[in-house]
Amino acid sequence: MCNRRSYSKTSQWRTKGAAGKNHGRVGLGIAWYQTASQVNPGWPFPCARSLPKRRRLRAEIARYLRQARGVACTPDEIVIAAGTQLLIQQLCCLFGLDGRAVAIEEPGYNGVRIVFQHLGFAVTPIPLEEDGIDVEALEASGARLVYITPSHQEPSGMVMPYAKRIRLLQWVARTGVYIVEDDYDGEFRYRGKPIPSLQGLDTEGRGVYLGTFSKSLLPSIRISYMVLPPALMDVWRERMSPYDQSASRIHQETLALFMKSGEWERHIRKMRTVYRKKHQAMLNALHAVMGGHIRIMGQDAGLSVTVEVYSDKTAEELTAAAASAGIRVYPTAPKWFRPPQNRLPAFQFGFGGLSVEEMDAGLRLLYEVWKPYMHSCI
Ligand SMILES: Cc1ncc(COP(=O)(O)O)c(C=O)c1O
Repeated sequence: MCNRRSYSKTSQWRTKGAAGKNHGRVGLGIAWYQTASQVNPGWPFPCARSLPKRRRLRAEIARYLRQARGVACTPDEIVIAAGTQLLIQQLCCLFGLDGRAVAIEEPGYNGVRIVFQHLGFAVTPIPLEEDGIDVEALEASGARLVYITPSHQEPSGMVMPYAKRIRLLQWVARTGVYIVEDDYDGEFRYRGKPIPSLQGLDTEGRGVYLGTFSKSLLPSIRISYMVLPPALMDVWRERMSPYDQSASRIHQETLALFMKSGEWERHIRKMRTVYRKKHQAMLNALHAVMGGHIRIMGQDAGLSVTVEVYSDKTAEELTAAAASAGIRVYPTAPKWFRPPQNRLPAFQFGFGGLSVEEMDAGLRLLYEVWKPYMHSCI
């Protein structure tokens, strides 16, 4: 554990002795641990393949997704795995290599791009517009599969509006392309009406929906899931069911009970309020401390705020300057497939585990370090 101050993307300023004191998931309280104690991890705990028990978490996820995210699904269309990367790996196996490209957002989530690359898929980066992926460029790409984060673009933070979702789905309907929608933090939208998931709007059975409990609950329980359209689900059952073992059965069972008891919805409501306040506090602190030297990107969603810094230094140089003062910052540079030459350096500032005071103090410290390198927006 770092004993200097550090700014962590998803958690906290760390100072000696204070780590963990202000953990972001304080809202989880004791409800999770009480629920876990109801799960018997010893014999006769059901074997990994016990069907009725395996279905319990899927049933809860399906119920939640239908209600909260407008996802059209049954429990039998849900695949659970210990992480988004493992789900993408399974999708890659389902699709197989045929030389055609997978389209991704540029910039986009490198954790997923790397899996496509490792498995030999040709990756085509598609530029972003102000409201998400450029549909015309996507059409021109000839891709057979597209992976996107429409509800909170990673890392730029924009939310794809309804009209653009429909345009995207019209292209899907015309071409028969599959669209993989990663709704990794869709629970946390702070303003505006909820926009239904692409999967819920898709009438062609071409939408794959990805979700995770890493942002909404705990990254360490490693439970993520995907909803497959019926045709793909049939293939998955035929070929991939032995892969259905990666996520801990004990955590799955705990989570199923936690959701069934109503604790999950209570937790989400509470955390949405907590994060809404923290999100606003982060915006206030950024404006107060660095306003005029930064451009805040994205919209009111998620657990981090992305900013471009008006500076002639590169993201690497600013990261190194911050590190020399014991501050860790998270540049968006690794999220580019082809990093551009002439863009302003951009960073993601997480606020999940920070108190308002810590955000303010942290940003002030960072500003002291970066001030000599920053200029104003002209
Ligand atoms: C776009 C995106 N998807 C998914 C995840 C979460 O992945 P996992 O379910 O493997 O924890 C993250 C985490 O940072 C993310 O940024």
